[in-house]
Amino acid sequence: MNQSKAPVLEALAAYHASGQTPFTPPGHRQGRGVDPRVRAVLGDDVFRSDVLATSGLDDRTSSHAVVEAAQALMAEAVGADHAFFSTCGSSLSVKAAMLSAAGPHEKLLVGRDAHKSVVSGLILAGVRPVWVDPQWDAERHLAHPPTAEAFEAAFAEHPDARGALVTTPTPYGTCADLTAIADVCHRRGRPLIVDEAWGAHLPFHPDLPTWAMDAGADVCVTSVHKMGSGLEQSSVFHLQGDLVAPEVLRSREDLLGTTSPSVLMYAALDGWRRQMVEHGRVLYDDALALAAQTRTRISRIDGLRVHGRDDFCGPGRAADMDPLQIVIDISAWEVTGYRAADWLRRHHGVNLHIADHRRISSQLTHADDDGTVAVLLTALTDLAAHAAELRTGQPVRVPSPSRLRLEQAVLPRDAYFGPTEQVPWDKADGRIAAEMLTPYPPGIPAALPGERLTGDVLRYLRSGVEAGMVVPDAVDTKVTSVRVLREE
Ligand SMILES: Cc1ncc(COP(=O)(O)O)c(C=O)c1O
Repeated sequence: MNQSKAPVLEALAAYHASGQTPFTPPGHRQGRGVDPRVRAVLGDDVFRSDVLATSGLDDRTSSHAVVEAAQALMAEAVGADHAFFSTCGSSLSVKAAMLSAAGPHEKLLVGRDAHKSVVSGLILAGVRPVWVDPQWDAERHLAHPPTAEAFEAAFAEHPDARGALVTTPTPYGTCADLTAIADVCHRRGRPLIVDEAWGAHLPFHPDLPTWAMDAGADVCVTSVHKMGSGLEQSSVFHLQGDLVAPEVLRSREDLLGTTSPSVLMYAALDGWRRQMVEHGRVLYDDALALAAQTRTRISRIDGLRVHGRDDFCGPGRAADMDPLQIVIDISAWEVTGYRAADWLRRHHGVNLHIADHRRISSQLTHADDDGTVAVLLTALTDLAAHAAELRTGQPVRVPSPSRLRLEQAVLPRDAYFGPTEQVPWDKADGRIAAEMLTPYPPGIPAALPGERLTGDVLRYLRSGVEAGMVVPDAVDTKVTSVRVLREE
């Protein structure tokens, strides 16, 4: 295929050149109807290129199959059999992927460090999760993806499980041994689904962690807006092999997706693929070199520990890591990541990726350069000088790994849609959660519907919120009360 083509961008240029007069959505008519105050902020071009995907960009019957052509180019570029564009983020793509493997009451093996969008999929479809424990680093209070052995053991106990889902890289950039996990699944004729939301860039440089399709996964989901040049919400999911039928996956996406996809997002996805095919190698040569230098320079700042392979990879930890995720432990300062992140935003206009009870992280991408890194280094150096002021003496009470794991007493769907009541947090010990309680970012639920709450996890969330943790999906976001299942 001719990878220098960009079908969506070309169709959009042709649309502009051909002087079309739409009597269809979008009602703003290429911006003519938009309030000038909106255009002043968003720019005219956003509206000019916001056209109807079907019978606008393409003809009424989609005879030019513009998006299909762009998807085929994407699939070829990354070595998949099929690629599907989605404009509802990996939050949708991951649901489409998991529901192509398991339906109501069927079992799916899922790493417990899954993102909340996976849990939403379980709730909506009534899939029965068989949780697979991640590898807990008890010293650093951090989870890495589960091992192949853990998936093997789960399949041995639940041979009727329809497939497995693993998240890799995690938002902290650590990776599973996907080849081994794919092997475990395929020996049983079951598909492996990979939530690779943080890995859209992986196919484009050999020194980045192994890309899911290369490792033999069946379906993988990427958020191109996270590490690539997609617009926010743009996602691509990829398929290979014959364990998941393409028409089933497409149908699941159709079930959940919008009927009005954004051409802006499609166009940016199309352009990103062409950019990566033509320039990805060089862009990531540069990005990886910049990340290596940045890691060394941050490590020299007093009190900061940049996690590298020594900390994150090896037996009992992750199989690999993405060096572009620069995860920094600040616990030597006795300052939480929440306070550090707030301070950096307020005083330096620097926004970080993850902030947790003892870490901050910044992601570098192909778009960073010496200038952006200089801003980061200046801000971190200044933060070090002010660290003592940010101490609160109010620790977040993080339980040991075994106490973080909750019993799944009821199916997530049954707890979520069952009779519920709101109880004070200190009365919720032993009750079954009817909502997700998710520290964000990174968005991995500490408790989810159907899990039996414990005092340890409740104290963790309460002390976390007091220290600046955000739990946006709870009914009571301060977690002073919790939604639980009403039990007779
Ligand atoms: C591991 C993981 N999966 C899925 C998602 C959802 O992706 P999106 O924001 O593209 O909907 C996220 C978002 O942070 C994530 O971290």
